[in-house]
Amino acid sequence: MVHFKSSTMLPCALFALFVPLLVAAQSPEGTISGPTTSTEAAGYSCDASKCQLPNCNCASVKPPGGLQPSDVPQFIVFTADDAIQSYTLDAVNQFLAHRKNPNGCAPKMTYYTSLGYTNYSLVTDWFVAGNEIADHTVNHVGDPSAGEINGNLIALNALAGIPLASIKGFRAPFLNYSVDTLKRLYESKFTYDSSASASVPVTDPNSDAFWPYTLDYGMANDCLEVPGSCKGEPKLPGFWEIPMYAFFDNLGAAGPHLMDPWLDNANGASAINDTATLEYMKNTFTAHYNGNRQPIGLYTHPIHVSRSVPGSTASNSTVNMINAFLDWAQNQQNVWIISSEQLLDWVQHPTPVSQLDQLSSLKCSTPQVDAKICNGMPSSQAGLIQHCAFPDFPFYTCYGCPQDHPTVEKPNPPQQVADGQQARFRLPQNCSTPFWDPIKGECICTSSTCAFADGSRPIGPNGANLTGGGTGTFEDPASSSTTYVPFNNALPSVSLDILPTLILGVVGAFIGTFGVISRF
Ligand SMILES: *[C@@H]1O[C@H](CO)[C@@H](O)[C@H](O)[C@H]1NC(C)=O
Ligand SMILES: *[C@@H]1O[C@H](CO)[C@@H](O)[C@H](O)[C@H]1NC(C)=O
Ligand SMILES: *[C@@H]1O[C@H](CO)[C@@H](O)[C@H](O)[C@H]1NC(C)=O
Ligand SMILES: *[C@@H]1O[C@H](CO)[C@@H](O)[C@H](O)[C@H]1NC(C)=O
Ligand SMILES: *[C@@H]1O[C@H](CO)[C@@H](O)[C@H](O)[C@H]1NC(C)=O
Ligand SMILES: *[C@@H]1O[C@H](CO)[C@@H](O)[C@H](O)[C@H]1NC(C)=O
Ligand SMILES: [Zn+2]
Repeated sequence: MVHFKSSTMLPCALFALFVPLLVAAQSPEGTISGPTTSTEAAGYSCDASKCQLPNCNCASVKPPGGLQPSDVPQFIVFTADDAIQSYTLDAVNQFLAHRKNPNGCAPKMTYYTSLGYTNYSLVTDWFVAGNEIADHTVNHVGDPSAGEINGNLIALNALAGIPLASIKGFRAPFLNYSVDTLKRLYESKFTYDSSASASVPVTDPNSDAFWPYTLDYGMANDCLEVPGSCKGEPKLPGFWEIPMYAFFDNLGAAGPHLMDPWLDNANGASAINDTATLEYMKNTFTAHYNGNRQPIGLYTHPIHVSRSVPGSTASNSTVNMINAFLDWAQNQQNVWIISSEQLLDWVQHPTPVSQLDQLSSLKCSTPQVDAKICNGMPSSQAGLIQHCAFPDFPFYTCYGCPQDHPTVEKPNPPQQVADGQQARFRLPQNCSTPFWDPIKGECICTSSTCAFADGSRPIGPNGANLTGGGTGTFEDPASSSTTYVPFNNALPSVSLDILPTLILGVVGAFIGTFGVISRF
């Protein structure tokens, strides 16, 4: 049963700047209280001999590609929803900035971005740092129209320089989607939706904790909730659903916790108890880890755990608890913190842990830009970002202030250009964000000869120690003294930027990531 509480109908971040106390007192959006599907309601059948990777995958609790669970990494998908502001990025950073995945790369996450109160320059920064930017509508509305969905794409492309092809995913505000929502996403060429709940524990023989699957044979999640879905509908070939995997407390199937579980009361109690939350989060993780290794999801509304937002009431104990959970998880073998698009790439190319080195989507590459251009890299763009001084909410951008806030009707309003000034140039389809100079209208890198540094370390052969690093030091992410230890305690055998072949490989991955092909 998905609840849409009327008190949560407005996007939380809308209040963030002015009424932070109100925000923290609200219940989060995206709660469930029991199973949202059943085998009977799903009436799901899929022909696995016809439905094959990479563009078709049947809903299944078993890992893709016929892999044994022991060959499957345990992924922790980290997502955030709503406006992107300094306060919300601070909140995410307090969980991720100090961590390393088993290949030495900083974890990436997915930000499902809605436009109200979003600070566009920070969207650019977050994307260029390697995170995924995805769509969460213009005005944060449930069951959104095509205009709400597409307006978000257009504004993020125009004002944050995110290539359209890189905005692949969608999450419905309040997790309130309909069959029509899914059809609209399909028509707009999205790769995936991630709004459905996996609401039955993995230990239950009828678990709905399916690995991501395509809708060639319809939906298999939320069949009790979404009219007209399941029993083969809607058929959207090649379009993916990435279910959101719930945690379960001591009440089992009757105690699911989906988004921001740390804001819920555990075990039917009447107050938040971080100790009890940590306990059930670990138990659910272990059930996944010892079973079919379906992903674990940390689905956050970062504003609720931001300690930098004025008037913050975020609890230190809760923040510390979330870090304790991640520390604990990262100390186990083959645990990776990733974005939705990284998960999907692995599912499409199921790669055993011993060969993860070959999967470019898990690597980390840094564009090597020395030029002083407004490109989402803090070191390059200092002094070049424009301040758009709207009285209700001012924001910043590299790409020229619009005359108005983007709306559904006008997602890309004309630029305001002061007398004697020149308009800024928006990102063209044939350049990548970090290489585009919006002031000169010039792409400083148009071939694979541009320099990238691959920061990933080789993953050892079978049996190497594949734990992550950077645990336990979240107070000071800038400190270089993380506890990360290279695999087999050996120094990396490939240094950062020397091997041309490696660099070429990474360019390919990078172009992939920063997609230069238009989606429309
Ligand atoms: C918005 O972004 C600008 C420039 O990146 C930054 O200086 C400012 O603090 C940000 N404000 C908020 C509320 O995010
Ligand atoms: C959820 O979507 C339904 C239509 O599918 C709509 O009637 C309802 O108002 C929406 N609720 C919210 C909270 O957006
Ligand atoms: C909080 O949860 C822990 C672990 O379940 C329990 O031992 C403790 O008694 C709980 N505290 C309160 C105040 O209920
Ligand atoms: C919470 O933690 C922050 C940062 O470590 C610290 O400045 C603050 O004093 C703490 N608040 C409480 C109530 O302990
Ligand atoms: C990119 O496209 C623009 C037209 O949109 C064209 O003028 C320019 O030459 C192209 N640049 C490259 C490197 O292909
Ligand atoms: C992996 O390496 C870390 C750091 O050296 C060490 O603390 C941990 O015990 C090792 N784990 C295994 C299973 O070897
Ligand atoms: Zn939301």
